[in-house]
Amino acid sequence: SHAEIGLIGLGVMGSNLALNIAEKGHPIAVYNRTASRTGLFFENAEGLRENIVPCTTLADLVAAIRPPRPIIIMTQAGKAVDEQIAALRKLLSPGDIIIDAGNANFRDTMRRFAELEGSGIEFLGVGVSGGEEGARHGPSIMVGGAKESWHRVEPVLTAIAAAYNGEPCAAWLGPDGAGHFVKTLHNGIEYADMQMIAEVYGVMRDGLGMGPKEIGQVFGRWNEGPLNSYLIEITSAVLAADDPQTGRPMVDVIVDSAGQKGTGRWAVIEAQMMGVPATGIEAAVAARSLSSMRQERDAAERAYGSPVKPIDPADRDALIADIEQALFAAKIGAYAQGFAVMRAASQEFGWDLPMATVARIWRAGCIIRSQFLDTIASAFEAKADLPNLLVSRAFVSMVSKAEPSLRRVVATAATHGLAVPAISSALAYFDAYRLARGTANLIQAQRDFFGAHGFERIDGPGAHHGPWGGHMAG
Ligand code: 6PG
Repeated sequence: SHAEIGLIGLGVMGSNLALNIAEKGHPIAVYNRTASRTGLFFENAEGLRENIVPCTTLADLVAAIRPPRPIIIMTQAGKAVDEQIAALRKLLSPGDIIIDAGNANFRDTMRRFAELEGSGIEFLGVGVSGGEEGARHGPSIMVGGAKESWHRVEPVLTAIAAAYNGEPCAAWLGPDGAGHFVKTLHNGIEYADMQMIAEVYGVMRDGLGMGPKEIGQVFGRWNEGPLNSYLIEITSAVLAADDPQTGRPMVDVIVDSAGQKGTGRWAVIEAQMMGVPATGIEAAVAARSLSSMRQERDAAERAYGSPVKPIDPADRDALIADIEQALFAAKIGAYAQGFAVMRAASQEFGWDLPMATVARIWRAGCIIRSQFLDTIASAFEAKADLPNLLVSRAFVSMVSKAEPSLRRVVATAATHGLAVPAISSALAYFDAYRLARGTANLIQAQRDFFGAHGFERIDGPGAHHGPWGGHMAG
């Protein structure tokens, strides 16, 4: 047995991760439930076969790895992971480490930690981001579990991770569910980022009547500025592509119903459970859900007519310049919310999440990678307990500068019937967050009126009631 590590599940992500590990010089044993796939994988692993041990049974896999054995599970999240853990438990020895590198719900990860406790088998819940390419050539790796378990696999995981200025984008973030929680929030932010990009695409397509190629060029230009990021870059490439079948722009022949596998929704659910506003992520998840109601939308458009009104072409260049700033400000809002959710979870679950490290390992490898995350990392380095990114010094000046553009874009969108739910939610969040005296005094009065819930006064402590009289005020 000469393999250093094992991997179960040779889907696209699993295969690429295995090739990445083999390529970095770490002999790996691989196993897939359907054995033919293992054979195919091995055949195609040209140049790397000497570092790959294909196994046809789980027992073979375990026997092929030098103990103590780290074994990565890369199957579909959910039941399949529990099945693999159950099967492995019968074959593993104390000290072996099961690594779940799929998109697990962190609550499942917490349960699995609890179930394995006392068995001597160690467990790591690891978030891996970067899609197929990332898995093959350098993903971002978010690790949760016992620090000692991490240290034992650290050499392999840092070797296969993406690097930003030579720093590996892999880190231990905290115990048990910390890694998968951070991955979930990564995906929530990913949803918000993608939605905001789609919203401004809509403003340009429907409001300004621009074609995909033209819009793609705008994104291409933006990629040279503060918006520079992987998602902006691929958006530009996507908009430039033509459908080989019809010759039409590719995006024009794609149905406008977005899929979702659940991670964005989990991010929103967890935010709500902790009472942290994450309206940008929420708007993005809701927009995907609404997008999938195609027939209903069709019927509603027939009932009301399309809301869209063309924007005066004379305003085009100024508006496009505003959109760049607006998108940047709105993106800051979404990231601020995402980090605030992680901060709350860190307190709630006692993880002590290192926020600057989270931002640092997202700078390369992952789907939301960008230079901008370096600015976030610096903000948390300057102030580790920053309650919200919006109040860090660097962000105050960036957001203040972009604020007028954000207002103009949201206003223009509203008057021209262009839905920008995530971007407008960012503006509303920003306006409410930076307003020292809001309007919840009225809500408190209403609550007291109908339910005698009591309220605090501005001029003194204690619970008070209003002069509502009657039986309803109790
Ligand atoms: C990543 C991605 C990835 C995720 C897809 C699909 O970080 O590499 O987040 O893990 O599976 O983006 O997510 P949806 O199918 O829900 O869009």
